[in-house]
Amino acid sequence: LWTTKNIVEDSIQRIREQVGDDEVLLGLSGGVDSSVVAALLHKAIGDQLTCVFVDHGLLRYGEGDQVMAMFARHMGIKVIRVDAQDLFFGRLKGVTDPEEKRKIIGHTFIEVFDEEASKLTNVKWLAQGTIYPDVIESAGSKTGKAKVIKSHHNVGGLPEEMNLKLLEPLRELFKDEVRKLGVELGLPYEMVYRHPFPGPGLGVRILGEVKKEYADILRLADHIFIEELRAADLYDKTSQAFAVFLPIKSVGVVGDARRYDYVVALRAVETIDFMTARWAHLPYDFLERVSTRIINEIPRISRVVYDISSKPPATIEWE
Ligand code: XMP
Repeated sequence: LWTTKNIVEDSIQRIREQVGDDEVLLGLSGGVDSSVVAALLHKAIGDQLTCVFVDHGLLRYGEGDQVMAMFARHMGIKVIRVDAQDLFFGRLKGVTDPEEKRKIIGHTFIEVFDEEASKLTNVKWLAQGTIYPDVIESAGSKTGKAKVIKSHHNVGGLPEEMNLKLLEPLRELFKDEVRKLGVELGLPYEMVYRHPFPGPGLGVRILGEVKKEYADILRLADHIFIEELRAADLYDKTSQAFAVFLPIKSVGVVGDARRYDYVVALRAVETIDFMTARWAHLPYDFLERVSTRIINEIPRISRVVYDISSKPPATIEWE
């Protein structure tokens, strides 16, 4: 019988047979797929699993701490957190082209991950959160080479000198099955049903040059938006929602004083497949509440706008 419980038991059995007493390495991103793999592998092989979590400084509000709290403290999984923020911000200095930014973030990510991985000399396997749609997607690619960190699938390549074997326990599953698996394995519902977040993170939600100062402002605005969506029971009714940082300044007035500060755009869409999307018709009073909070609580933001573009022609992300 093809129930979630059976899938879990079957997967655990297969993982144990495959891996034996070997050590396994997993790149944990905080996303659904790698989180479910972590929970599954931990259940199957316990301490034989080591996770590496690279913090590139472009994560959402509190995300790095949440990942550590959930996996390391709560579940007792071995997680190595690599704080690589300065390296990423350094490499992104002066870079404004979206594809260039993606490449830099992707390559730096792999580099940091590989360096950390090469310290773990006993590791024999590299686990990945590849799911069935990824398998289909990459079937047409020329090399068919494994993807190191799934969320950065435009930059492939195993740490070759390590000669790792690939472990992909979600290979046959669709996203909704992966989510059910996550819940069955005890991961919190909010984590498992979180909106998708791009591999380059806030790097493509800060238009133009990426700076830590901008990322810090954006994180706060995004957090308020998401918090209010959850409070108004609108989070699960939108497919993806986030804030975008616009590095332009606009005049505002607070009390008697003029201010001249940054602009934030709110983006929320409804979609089934993310190939096309309609902008979410969020209630005006809701948008007003979010806008008021953002401007009142974040001193560096003077104006909030709402994106009313659908895809196509506009993409979901701004870059
Ligand atoms: P667009 O902006 O192309 O986005 O309409 C469609 C979906 O893909 C996500 N996205 C990315 N995910 N790396 C990722 O892992 C990327 O570089 C990237 N760019 C866009 C986007 O968040 C949306 O869900």
